[in-house]
Amino acid sequence: MKRIIIDTDPGIDDALALLLAFSSPELKIEAITTVSGNVSQHKAHLNALKLLEFIGVKNVPVAMGAEKPLLREPMYAEEFHGISGLGDAVLPEPALNSDKRSALQLIFDKIEEFNGKLTLVAIGPLTNIAGALLLDAKKVEKIDELVIMGGAFQLTPYGHGNATPVAEFNIWHDPLAAKIVFDSRLRIKAVGLDVTTDPKNRLTKTAFSNILKANNVRTRLIADLCQRLVEKYDGMSLHDPMAIAVTVDESLAKTSKYKVEVETKSELTLGQTIIDKRRYSKPREEDLNVEICTSIDGERFLKMFMERIVME
Ligand code: RIB
Ligand code: CA
Repeated sequence: MKRIIIDTDPGIDDALALLLAFSSPELKIEAITTVSGNVSQHKAHLNALKLLEFIGVKNVPVAMGAEKPLLREPMYAEEFHGISGLGDAVLPEPALNSDKRSALQLIFDKIEEFNGKLTLVAIGPLTNIAGALLLDAKKVEKIDELVIMGGAFQLTPYGHGNATPVAEFNIWHDPLAAKIVFDSRLRIKAVGLDVTTDPKNRLTKTAFSNILKANNVRTRLIADLCQRLVEKYDGMSLHDPMAIAVTVDESLAKTSKYKVEVETKSELTLGQTIIDKRRYSKPREEDLNVEICTSIDGERFLKMFMERIVME
């Protein structure tokens, strides 16, 4: 069983990732921390509480994190995730309360409690992770691994950007935070657009309609979350659920190790994640701290997703 903390900006695919995570017996979710990204911190946090209440989670602390990126104005994605951040889904006001601690304090407390034996899964911008590193890098670098949904590394034909032609949204939303994280001594696994937007790994319209056939309260939520996107984009890329799936079963992914640089200055390429693939480049072994997913077993990933996403 793997202890994890999920840092998230719900967000439609974040919502699917939470449904998947809480249906995965391999994971013990110790905490949820929220971050500004797809929507404001306030909306992301409220959505996290609503979703945990919907799933029936009672004893997992949910703490509020960064209101905005480091040094940058937030650029939300409400045109994609809807004004609420949950598409057309309407969930009741939560009775669940936020944890009194900040996201960073909760992360530090859990690292202490489990002596670093835990995995951080970041499926939103990296502002909270960077903040924790700035406050106490030694403590944070004790953790087993940081798994991120983020980056576009041009390692497959699908490895181009989505927020811009070259930048993936989570990195682009807070490029300085991403630089701080990639420059740290954390062991990182990156699930990027290279694999999440590969057509063989996406949720097809047919698969989506099969999910809805069960016609229960859970599949009706999934319908309200995803219907518009599935219609508009001929299916749906399961960015955040894929990061959870790879945390559940690392054998789903083939990876290669790189050092990752982030563009933090140029307006044109802000948030681009850059790796050195030149044959003659001789990076130091200790600098190769990011395992980037180069391919995913799409069949096994989608089977896990389909089976678990509808589980009551
Ligand atoms: O680029 C995809 C990522 O950006 C996902 O985490 C999605 O939720 C958005 O935050
Ligand atoms: Ca997200």
